[in-house]
Amino acid sequence: MNLKTLLAERLEVALRDAGAAAASAIVGPATRPEFGDYQANGAMAAAKRLGMKPRDLALRVAEAADLAGIAARCDVTGPGFISLTIDDDCLSEALADGRTEPVGGGERVVIDYSHPNLAKEMQVHHLRSTIIGDAVARVLDALGYDVIRQNHVGDWGTGFGRLVAHLNDTGEDSEALGDLERFYTEASERFANDATFADRARQVVVDLQGGDPATLARWQRYIDISMSHCQAVYERLGVGLEPEHVRGESAYNDDLDGIVEDLEAKGLLTESDGALCAFLPEFKGKDGKIAPIIVRKSDGGYLYHSTDLAAVRHRTQTLHAKRVLYVVDARQGLHFKQLFALARRAAYDAGASLEHHPFGMMLGNDGRPFKTREGSGTRLLDLLDEATVRARRLVEAKNPELDGQQMDRVARAVGIGAVKYADLSKNRTGDYVFDWDAMMSFEGNTAPYLQYAYARIQSLFQRGRVDAAALTGRPAIREAEEHALALQIARFQETLEQVAATVMPHHLCTYLYDLAAAFMRFYERCPVLDSDVRNDRLLLCRHTAATLSRGLDLLGIETVDRM
Ligand code: ARG
Repeated sequence: MNLKTLLAERLEVALRDAGAAAASAIVGPATRPEFGDYQANGAMAAAKRLGMKPRDLALRVAEAADLAGIAARCDVTGPGFISLTIDDDCLSEALADGRTEPVGGGERVVIDYSHPNLAKEMQVHHLRSTIIGDAVARVLDALGYDVIRQNHVGDWGTGFGRLVAHLNDTGEDSEALGDLERFYTEASERFANDATFADRARQVVVDLQGGDPATLARWQRYIDISMSHCQAVYERLGVGLEPEHVRGESAYNDDLDGIVEDLEAKGLLTESDGALCAFLPEFKGKDGKIAPIIVRKSDGGYLYHSTDLAAVRHRTQTLHAKRVLYVVDARQGLHFKQLFALARRAAYDAGASLEHHPFGMMLGNDGRPFKTREGSGTRLLDLLDEATVRARRLVEAKNPELDGQQMDRVARAVGIGAVKYADLSKNRTGDYVFDWDAMMSFEGNTAPYLQYAYARIQSLFQRGRVDAAALTGRPAIREAEEHALALQIARFQETLEQVAATVMPHHLCTYLYDLAAAFMRFYERCPVLDSDVRNDRLLLCRHTAATLSRGLDLLGIETVDRM
């Protein structure tokens, strides 16, 4: 149940009856405890148009709204806000053990994330994209959207000439292939210093573009090796990206000539120094010149924009997406603005919503772009290994009684969970500092804190020999702390809908952190195991635990019963 939507609907009926046509009762969480649980300020906006005092309209709406069984109190506060307190019985009814409602109705959403460049090892910004994209995909799935994951890997372009030429020489069992960064450097150095090698590399490009089978097979071999590195990162991270989700740039090769023909027929291309470009007036720079979108180079080669245009068309016209989400770092903002603008002109969007959801950089403690080792490379697997090692040390100190196997599970859950949560809990649009100590802390808005809150509830069940799954009924709510906890649990659905709409997983993190805090307050004030209302309180504990664990699961983070 989404209480927020329910309240908004009821208030809107009353607003309309009061003459405020198409008014929307903007409902949100109350800004202060004395304002109850939710607040609506629809009357404020609507009153102006009616020439009424907001307070008078609010009073009328509060009086007339049918809130029976939903709100226990409905008051007008301030200049015209409506304060609502949810009825305890309704709250109890709204508790759902972390289950969600399929409001998505099967609507198709394509999400483009992770998308490393296969010429090199996966980079830090691909890690961010992978973590954020995975969480968003899970939330959309849970809400009943039909999610199609698209891993738009960079697997084509002239850069592959030298790599394939180098592979021809080293053979496919070369040790250097275990470290793609090194392989890439070697190939680049040879390309710069060895003229005959450079010639061969250029010939590879020609052969690749000409579709020579043997060269294509070699290229495919290189792609497979590189992709297996990524797959290792995905597995370590526990994200649900599989080979079937890969649809790289090369997948669009055969569409590109057609795209150019089509754009030309639509009058969108202009020749400029032999290249075919789209000049859209909204991309006029300060110098008065329009930044061109190059669709085909003068040598006939295609670029990043060309494949992306084909990808838009594929996603909207073949996959029939209603929304296409691009989780790509902020530096590509202009690329996507141009892409979407041109796609709309060419009617490739097919009415779908094309959305770039940018994220900032991951910084080291020194405030500079994060690196795991000296030089240009960033081995993500090393980073994830280190996370698990650190987590293990931490958990060993906290709970030495765990046996080896349990310890491995906990170390993995906490280590990987901490890395993901540190990323997800920040508003993605900004840069964030990667700080081991902060993310592994058992206090504050961290994964270990939430995982620990979950484990504490499990240990409470154990101490009381409670089979939580066997508890039946709905909890009666009596105390203020119980009310606050139940309210927070009940907000799960609305929070997920907010994440789906904004593509911002940090709303879910904040929600879970507040949930754990509400639980701690409840637990301090309300004895559970030796109480007359034990069953009611145990039920609240169960709903809390289930919601925490489901919420973390939607962020791609595991929970453990003991830690
Ligand atoms: N491979 C690109 C990069 O690493 C990101 C691709 C993003 N997706 C897209 N459809 N352009 O920068």
